[in-house]
Amino acid sequence: MNFPILEKLNPAVAALQPYEPGRPIEEVAREFGLDPDDIVKLASNESAIGTSPKALAAMQVALPESYRYPDGGAWHLRNKLAEHYGVDRDQIAVGNGSNEILELLGHAFMVPGTSVVSSAHAFIVYKLVAQLFGIEQREIPMTSGLVHDLDAMLAAIDETTTLVFVCNPNNPTGTIVSNDAVCRFMERVPEHVLVVFDEAYAEIALSPMPDTLQYVHDNRPVIVTRTFSKAYGLAGLRLGYGIAPASIIHCLQQARQPFNVNLLAQVAGCAALDDDAFIKAGVATYHAGKAYVEAACRKLGLPFIPTAANFMLIEVGDGAAVTGALQAKGIIIRPVAGYGLPQYIRMNFGTAAENERFVDALTDVL
Ligand SMILES: Cc1ncc(COP(=O)(O)O)c(C=O)c1O
Repeated sequence: MNFPILEKLNPAVAALQPYEPGRPIEEVAREFGLDPDDIVKLASNESAIGTSPKALAAMQVALPESYRYPDGGAWHLRNKLAEHYGVDRDQIAVGNGSNEILELLGHAFMVPGTSVVSSAHAFIVYKLVAQLFGIEQREIPMTSGLVHDLDAMLAAIDETTTLVFVCNPNNPTGTIVSNDAVCRFMERVPEHVLVVFDEAYAEIALSPMPDTLQYVHDNRPVIVTRTFSKAYGLAGLRLGYGIAPASIIHCLQQARQPFNVNLLAQVAGCAALDDDAFIKAGVATYHAGKAYVEAACRKLGLPFIPTAANFMLIEVGDGAAVTGALQAKGIIIRPVAGYGLPQYIRMNFGTAAENERFVDALTDVL
């Protein structure tokens, strides 16, 4: 229906290419006439070991309270996070996934005439948010190993730049920039930009993470964003947060909606933060998955990008074709042509049995 209002659509919205998430199991089951229980999903970098049991138990207790609005200020959760990181509560903002924190940064700092800098082949939401707010986004080529080129990113900053996104480890490449590289970057980055360290995989990183919180402690214009979606197995709840100097967090609080984090997410997040055993089990699973899939790639003669996260890029030639062929066999992975990497597929490490199904199916379809 061609309603007159459609003529008035925000051109930035009209031009957006929506984010393509990993396909849901049920959808693939319907399309290929498969049993959902036989489908293996390794497409969204979710937890391979389910949900934190401590978070589950806390949610069971809180369920009857669902008729009430959540605490709009997320008092307990922000206190808990503050204690966890040795910062003050007013240095923490919580969001409906760390995606919401990225969008709040857009509301706060992406105003006409400004620009943002990020890396090519980096998490696509930076680009989407910049497009939504109609500002210039500078995507800086990576090094040949698909690692952020922090020097080139620094060189792309000018007086219009408000935000620089450093996704570490980076999705979808899995590559990580070291503490030394981050230190050199932070020595040279101009004080007028806010540096966003997107650390969605920090707790389960398979290589040492740079210490970026030191810059928050030093009151530098830095925000570290993290999520409960990956390490804690709470992707379905949508819970993420940012840690930054209080004056920066205040800007995000101004821009957010009153009850942006739901009641179950708040209690689950508090409980999950104490679940060290769950994190340990996840890290062991991802190390094992990485070793297994890397060995399989070597055997199959497939190049891959060494990863520091719970997923990896494998060079298969025609990523879309391999994704389609795997899907027909009930294995959901991710094509990454939308990230400018059409020759690769991205898969995340699952259980040993899931990884085996993936490798067997990949061997069949090549
Ligand atoms: C690098 C990175 N940042 C942020 C997110 C968003 O995570 P969430 O909104 O689930 O917290 C993801 C999810 O895939 C990611 O890979």
